[in-house]
Amino acid sequence: MNTPKRYTITAALPYTNGPVHIGHLAGVYVPADIYARYQRLQGSDVLYICGSDEHGVPITIKAKKEGISPQQVVDKYHEMIKKSFAEFGISFDNYSRTTAKVHHDTASDFFKKLYEDGKFIEETNEQLYDAEANQFLADRFVVGTCPKCGFEESYGDQCENCGTSHNATDLINPKSAITGNTPTLKETKHWFLPLDQYQDWLRTWIVEGHANDWKPNVLGQVKSWLDDGLRPRAVTRDLDWGIPVPVEGGEGKVLYVWFDAPIGYISSTKEWAERTGKDWEPYWKDEDTKLLHFIGKDNIVFHCIIFPSMLKAEGSYILPENVPANEFLNLEGNKLSTSKNWAVWLHEYLEDFPGKQDVLRYTLTANAPETKDNDFTWKDFQARNNNELVAIFGNFINRVVVLTHKYYNGIVPSPNAFSEVDEDTLMMLKKYPQIISKSIERYRFREAQNELMNLARMGNKYLADEEPWKVIKQDEERVKTIMFVALQIATALSILSEPFLPFTSNKLKGMLNVSSSTSTPLGTGSEEMSWNSVSKENVLLKSGHQIDKAELLFAKIEDAEIQIQLEKLTASKKANELENQSVEPQKETIEFDDFTKLDIRIGTILEAVKVAKTKKLLQLKVDVGIDIRTIVSGIAESFSPEDIIGKQVTVLTNLAPRTIRGVESQGMILMCDTPDGKLAFVEPDANVVNGGRIS
Ligand code: MF3
Ligand code: ZN
Repeated sequence: MNTPKRYTITAALPYTNGPVHIGHLAGVYVPADIYARYQRLQGSDVLYICGSDEHGVPITIKAKKEGISPQQVVDKYHEMIKKSFAEFGISFDNYSRTTAKVHHDTASDFFKKLYEDGKFIEETNEQLYDAEANQFLADRFVVGTCPKCGFEESYGDQCENCGTSHNATDLINPKSAITGNTPTLKETKHWFLPLDQYQDWLRTWIVEGHANDWKPNVLGQVKSWLDDGLRPRAVTRDLDWGIPVPVEGGEGKVLYVWFDAPIGYISSTKEWAERTGKDWEPYWKDEDTKLLHFIGKDNIVFHCIIFPSMLKAEGSYILPENVPANEFLNLEGNKLSTSKNWAVWLHEYLEDFPGKQDVLRYTLTANAPETKDNDFTWKDFQARNNNELVAIFGNFINRVVVLTHKYYNGIVPSPNAFSEVDEDTLMMLKKYPQIISKSIERYRFREAQNELMNLARMGNKYLADEEPWKVIKQDEERVKTIMFVALQIATALSILSEPFLPFTSNKLKGMLNVSSSTSTPLGTGSEEMSWNSVSKENVLLKSGHQIDKAELLFAKIEDAEIQIQLEKLTASKKANELENQSVEPQKETIEFDDFTKLDIRIGTILEAVKVAKTKKLLQLKVDVGIDIRTIVSGIAESFSPEDIIGKQVTVLTNLAPRTIRGVESQGMILMCDTPDGKLAFVEPDANVVNGGRIS
């Protein structure tokens, strides 16, 4: 037997400043989990690791905001995040944290090694400083215009718009995120990794070496940065939360979070090895090991440029085989945002949809942002559940299991001669492992999952065409064959669905009374059942095997349940709008006489038409009691003409007439702004005669 392939699979360490949401799952943890589970089913030696990223400015900011210590922040969210991942079946072999001692030691030693080997440039120069906050401004403590793309809210170390990593001093028009002040400059010493020295090597390794196997979005970004030219990047910071710089002159300074965090993959491996009595080094140093980094697109620069340069500088580590980065997931058309509470939080999802982890995993994979940003909508979630999981997968399994009990007391029947359709079906079945494998190995998880559903579709169609429930009345022997074939498909589904729908796969294996562990034989005989046995074995579930009772795999999701979720989002939106609405300061004081100059009256809109070739203007006829007059009003984006006829409104009548777009406007309708950016009329709250004065 060949020695199994070794895989070290990493999933980006999430910042520990908030719970995790669907964007995290869709972009990183579910695809990495599918890959890890799939490779385990292949018999590979898989190490799937992750942990909490607990240093860095986002944690400090959160702590300040909540009035607690950074340690308290990470303690709280580390537990929450870890639990959410476990609940969604993310099958990490180890989930560590960067405040762990093993990590502090590992990152410290890594830094010292590069320092001693002369891999850093030590330099004292001017850095951004906020005198009021008494704080150097690095990373998320400073916001300014990105020198590459012009985005006005770039952070000091990275622009979230174009993904570029830069030095804080490169920002145009920087502002302190703490006080809003324009920073001053102050001298300080730091250690820099001279990325420029790795530029040619990076180009050869990635742009030439991986032109065909890395994703185009990843290659494109890498190439663009290399073309712009890399520059030395500081790997230390003047902050007090982080790993102390372990060399002379480093007092009061910490490692840059993006220096320490990726080393977290290594420390997590060490922690795992310690716990399981294994050796960690082959997973990071053996040339035959395949190292894969699953990340979101904002992490590309760190995993393709900076971390590999660190590993190269250290000298004894392998480099990633691939960095399958995803784009971003949006929610109902808007960017997911922790601070704006525009998210579906995993812990809240499970409260509302208990036991439905696989439905979310399925929907997120079906819409995975693999090649472009993608949108999650609750309607789509409902449709995928009801029309695909319930109507196809669940329906097929339910029919197979229920009929097997009804006709044969749950015992797999012996088939008679196979018809052509049976033969074709069984032959197609054998092709599925390879079809799905091919997609997974190219990191095309949506395609892979769709193929899995095609297998369920095939099963569903087979039963619908063969109609055992009708045939049973004329030809009992034929039904044995049909049910035997259908049971083979069901068994294949139980194996091939595992990477995507682990909970369902488990339940299904229970129903079929086959082992749920891939390392022990299924209940069918002595052969070991794995991914490839679906192709190799002629029989997956033998005649005479007793299956268990049917259980519900998926249940219909009703409109009312979706409505609740949509209302939650509407509430978030409203709360944000209110928060963002700034109230203008009061104008200068006026005398009563000034006020009495204004002739404000109630009037009724009699006619309304759009002013041609304008977006905003309506031409109104308004009865203001004194007369009926024409008023041009900029309200067309908030109201359609037919909706406002008959409305009582407030009119400033003695405003000097103005000609707007060729129409003389004889007054002004008083309006006010609403939180969603529209306009509202100021209406009397009782019926008032036209011309009634406001005083
Ligand atoms: N915490 C980072 C983020 O959420 C990811 C860190 S990945 C690691 O964007 F490589 F640094 F671990
Ligand atoms: Zn940018």
